[in-house]
Amino acid sequence: MSEAADQIFATLKQSSQSGAPLYLQLRKSIEDAVNRGLIGPGDALPSERDIASKADISRVTVRKAVQDLVKGGILVQRHGSGTFVAPRMERVEQSLSRLTSFTEDMARRGMAVRSAWLDRGLYAPSPDEMMVLGLSSNELVARVARLRIANDTPLAIERAALSASVLPDPAGIGSSLYAALETTGLRPVRAVQRISAANLGGDDARLLEVPPGIAGLHIERISYLASGKVIEFTRSIYRGDAYDFVAELRLSGPGEEGRP
Ligand code: GLP
Repeated sequence: MSEAADQIFATLKQSSQSGAPLYLQLRKSIEDAVNRGLIGPGDALPSERDIASKADISRVTVRKAVQDLVKGGILVQRHGSGTFVAPRMERVEQSLSRLTSFTEDMARRGMAVRSAWLDRGLYAPSPDEMMVLGLSSNELVARVARLRIANDTPLAIERAALSASVLPDPAGIGSSLYAALETTGLRPVRAVQRISAANLGGDDARLLEVPPGIAGLHIERISYLASGKVIEFTRSIYRGDAYDFVAELRLSGPGEEGRP
């Protein structure tokens, strides 16, 4: 076992006189090891069995400590591959005044972007989609749902809906929806974006690799062509620990709305 793991247990032994329940002592030892950089983001934690035998405590106790740390976002569990120290999030600062795509936003920061497909296809539109995109019940909606990943960290779940007449082949968009729309002269030029707080449900949290119930941002973007026609209706869930949205505010000029 690694030197780091030995140090975790050394701390545990030192604190074992404290009288606190064992799982709390182990939780603190692991937390201290992360804070002191003995084990870093992405490092694997030794197996439950190894920790239990090395620290001479039961596996139930180890599991309880690890579960607590997963809930607190210090560790992440990946099915089939084990438990790891959670990646440290570098917050992304996102301007609220530029109409850019996810691919462009991340590329500007030098981050490698990729997406995992959650859904893509043509469907009968929902009442919301009919209303926003101006579709009738006999028209189809193209849905493109993706997990957006930057530098291997999942940042957002984006579910875009467009009229099937503008995106007849949702599977063919490649890596960027806006780049695909640009090729047909249908890239939006204006958008209205609504941001609200949301606690992440179990499925979304699992995809974003964060504990269920933590704070996230629900973002709805309705984008328009120069003609005023709505082209895109996208609902997204962003990790709350990853994004700062920044808006520049100016004092209105004479005669402009909002001038006192
Ligand atoms: C942003 C917006 C989405 C938009 C997407 C396009 O993330 N919130 O509304 O659909 O960019 O990104 P891309 O062109 O990378 O697919």
